[in-house]
Amino acid sequence: MQAGEDELVYIDAVPADFLEPGESATVSVEGWPVTVTVANADGDWYAYESACPHQATPLGGLRLTRKTLLQCPEHGSMFDVATGRCVLASNDGWSGTLRTYPTRVVDGVVQVSLAYHS
Ligand code: FES
Repeated sequence: MQAGEDELVYIDAVPADFLEPGESATVSVEGWPVTVTVANADGDWYAYESACPHQATPLGGLRLTRKTLLQCPEHGSMFDVATGRCVLASNDGWSGTLRTYPTRVVDGVVQVSLAYHS
């Protein structure tokens, strides 16, 4: 069974004017043991794991291209941050998925959901 939107717990991540279009940044969310990277894709916000799922290269601060595409600088994997899907395999043929998290903007603040209500 899939959780509904009203079951997600959202936590403030960054002000909506914190990043320019195409920019990303890794943030720590108070109370959560993980960091998450948020990105401004021409006004749409996405959140995803802050280390490349291939070999853990940090992804924060990398610019998006073609609105939602992110390329890891280490081995070249390219992900669509809107879905987490790998659209270009790494130079050693790896093509795993980038974990993504739901986002929303409330009163000028980008919020990220890292977990479901239990
Ligand atoms: S660490 Fe990102 S593609 Fe290898």
